Amino acid sequence: MTRPRKLYVKSFGCQMNVYDSHRMADTLAPEGFAETLNAGEADLIILNTCHIREKAAEKVYSELGRVGALKAAAARAGRRLTIAVAGCVAQAEGEEIIRRAPSVDLVVGPQSYHRLPELLARTERKGAVVDTEFPAEDKFDLLKAPSREAIRARGVSAFVTVQEGCDKFCTFCVVPYTRGAEVSRPVMKIIAEVELLAEAGVREITLIGQNVNAYHGQGSDGATWTLGRLLERLADVPGIARLRYTTSHPCDMDASLIAAHRDLPSLMPYLHLPVQTGSDRVLKRMNRRHTRAAYVKTVARLRAAQPRMAFSSDFIVGFPGESEEDFRATLSLVDEVGYASAFSFKYSPRPGTPAADLPSQIPDDVKSERLHRLQAVIDRQQAAFNGQCHGRTFEVLFEKAGRYPGQIVGRSPYLQPVQVMAPRTMIGEIRAVRITEVGPNSLFGDFAGTGLGAGPMLEA
Ligand code: 5AD
Ligand code: SF4
Repeated sequence: MTRPRKLYVKSFGCQMNVYDSHRMADTLAPEGFAETLNAGEADLIILNTCHIREKAAEKVYSELGRVGALKAAAARAGRRLTIAVAGCVAQAEGEEIIRRAPSVDLVVGPQSYHRLPELLARTERKGAVVDTEFPAEDKFDLLKAPSREAIRARGVSAFVTVQEGCDKFCTFCVVPYTRGAEVSRPVMKIIAEVELLAEAGVREITLIGQNVNAYHGQGSDGATWTLGRLLERLADVPGIARLRYTTSHPCDMDASLIAAHRDLPSLMPYLHLPVQTGSDRVLKRMNRRHTRAAYVKTVARLRAAQPRMAFSSDFIVGFPGESEEDFRATLSLVDEVGYASAFSFKYSPRPGTPAADLPSQIPDDVKSERLHRLQAVIDRQQAAFNGQCHGRTFEVLFEKAGRYPGQIVGRSPYLQPVQVMAPRTMIGEIRAVRITEVGPNSLFGDFAGTGLGAGPMLEA
C-alpha cells in the first residue's frame, strides 16, 4: 500500500454516474486513495460528467475552471493535484477536453474505469492521457467491490447496474453513442453484488440501466433472463425489503415485468416510464417505436396488475417540427395518464444525433413558453398526488437524519421524502407511517397504529 492520498469525486447527471463514481472510488481504495468531501485537500479529482443536454455538458467546463485554480494553488504549495474527467462528456469529446482545459491530466470513458490505476500511473510518467476505448474485457469483472465500511457510509438504499448502453437510437439522444450498445450483466454477478450489499445492511436496491427493462442477462441455467425474472430472484435475497428499477422504455415492458409488479410485494409500485411526447407524429420523428395509444395501454396494464401503481415520466418540449397541436397532445397525455411527478426538458440539439440536423428547429422562446405550461400542469398533478396522501399509511424506509433536530427522513414507496420525529437508531428500518401533513417538498407523519411499526392499513 502506498502513501494515503485523497480522492474527491463529483458526479453529474444520472444514477449510473453515481454508481460508477462509487465503483471508481472502490477501485482506487486499494491504491491508497481515501475519499474526501473537500476538493481543496484532494490529490485526485474526478469529475464524472453528463452529456445528455448542452447545459449539462457545459457545466463541466465551468467546474474545470474552479478545479484548475485548485490545481494551480496546489502546485504553488508544492503538491501535485491530478484532474480526471470521466463519464459521457469524456467519451464524446475525448482530446477536445484537454485542448479546452489544459489542467486536465486524464480523460477516461465509462468503459475504461477498471483501468484507472494504470491510467493514473501513466499520467505521472508521461503527462495527459485519453482513454475512450470500448475494450473487450468486462469492466465489471475488474472493478473492485466496495468494502463493508464504504457500503455503510453510502446508506441503506443502493444502486446496482444490471444493463448498460442502448440500442434504441431515439433521434435526440446521445446515449447510444456515449454508452455504446446494450450489454446485460450475467445474473449470478448481479445476485452476488446484491447479496454483498444486503449483508452490509442495504435494504433497498434500485437496478439501473439506460434501458433497464431491455435486460436480457445470462442466467445460471444457461437461459436468458428477463428483468421480471431477475427481480423475482432478487426479491428472495435476505435483507432486501425493496426493489426498484430505472430507466425503462415503454416498448420493453413485457409480461414478466408486469407480472412482477402484481406478484412481488417488495417491488415498489412506482415506475419511471418516459414517454417524451404525447404526439404520435413527434413520437415517430423521435424514433420512439411506439404510439401514444400503446403507451396508454401499457400504463393501463400495469395499473390492472397493481392498483397502487403510480407513474413518473420524462418529457421533451420543442423537438424539431413540434407544432402547437403536437404540444397540446403532450398536455392531454399528461391529463390522461395522471403522473405522481415528471421531469420536463427543452429539446437540446446534440452533436452527432439525427434530430440535431432536422429542419424546423424550434426557437428558444417557444420552447421556454411550452416548458412553462407543461411544468405548471405537472406541478398541479404532483401537488394533487401528494395531497391525496394525507391521512394514508405508508411503509417508510428511513435513510438519514431529517431537516430538524429529532427528525429522521425516509422514503415512501413513491419516493416522497417523509419526515418523522424518531431516534436515529431507526435509520435502516421500515415502519408504517401515517401522513399527517403534506409540505411542498416533503410529507410529514407519525407512527401508525398502537406501537412502532404496527401499521394495520398499509397501502403500499
Ligand atoms: N434534449 C432534451 N432532453 C433530452 N433528453 C435526452 N436527450 C435530450 C435532448 N437532446 C431527456 C429525455 C430523457 C432524459 C434522461 O433526458 O427526456 O428521457
Ligand atoms: Fe436515449 Fe433512452 Fe432513447 Fe436509449 S431509449 S436512445 S437512452 S432516450
